[in-house]
Amino acid sequence: MARLGWILFLIMTLIAGALAYKFILSGDTELAADGRKTILFEESERTFFLNEMRNFLIAVQQISDGIEKDDMDQIVAAAKKVGSGDLAHVPAGIMGKLPLAAKKMGLSTHRAFDQMAMDAESLGDKDHTLSQLNKILPTCTACHSLYRIM
Ligand code: HEC
Repeated sequence: MARLGWILFLIMTLIAGALAYKFILSGDTELAADGRKTILFEESERTFFLNEMRNFLIAVQQISDGIEKDDMDQIVAAAKKVGSGDLAHVPAGIMGKLPLAAKKMGLSTHRAFDQMAMDAESLGDKDHTLSQLNKILPTCTACHSLYRIM
C-alpha cells in the first residue's frame, strides 16, 4: 500500500512538473522555419497582442518626437499609455501562452515605461529619457528575434 502511495506521488509529481514546464516555462509555442518560436495564439489573442505592439511603436515615436521638441508632457503621456496599467486588460489566455522569457521581457518593457513617465515628470530631463528609451529598445528587438506569433 505504501509503495502504491509512492508510485502515485511520483506520477503526480511528474505530471505537475510537465504542466509547470508547459504552462510556465515554454508557454504554447512551436519551432518556426526561421528558427524563432511561434507563440500559438487564437485569432482574438493575436489581434489584441499586435494592437499592443503597435501601441508600443506609437509610444516610441511620440517619445522620440517629444525628446526632439523637449516636450516632457508629451513624453509623460506617451509613456503612461504603455505602462503597466495596460496589463490589467491583457486576456488570461495570452499570459498562459507566453513563454516565461517572453513574459519577463513584456513585463519589464511595461515597467520601464512606468519608470520613464515618473522620471520625465519629476526630473524633466530629456537626455535621461533618451537613455531610458535606448535601454528599452534592445528588449523590443531581442523579443522579436526570438518569437513570432501565429
Ligand atoms: C514579449 C516579446 C516582445 C516585446 C518585449 C516586444 N515585442 Fe513587438 N512583437 C512581438 C512579437 C512576437 C510580434 C509578432 C512578430 C511576428 O509574428 O513576426 C511583435 C510584433 C510587433 C509589431 C508589428 C505589429 C503588427 O501589427 O504587425 C510592432 C510594431 C512591434 N512588435 C513593436 C514593438 C516595440 C516598439 C517594442 C518595444 C517597445 C516591442 N514590440 C516589444 C513580441 C514582442
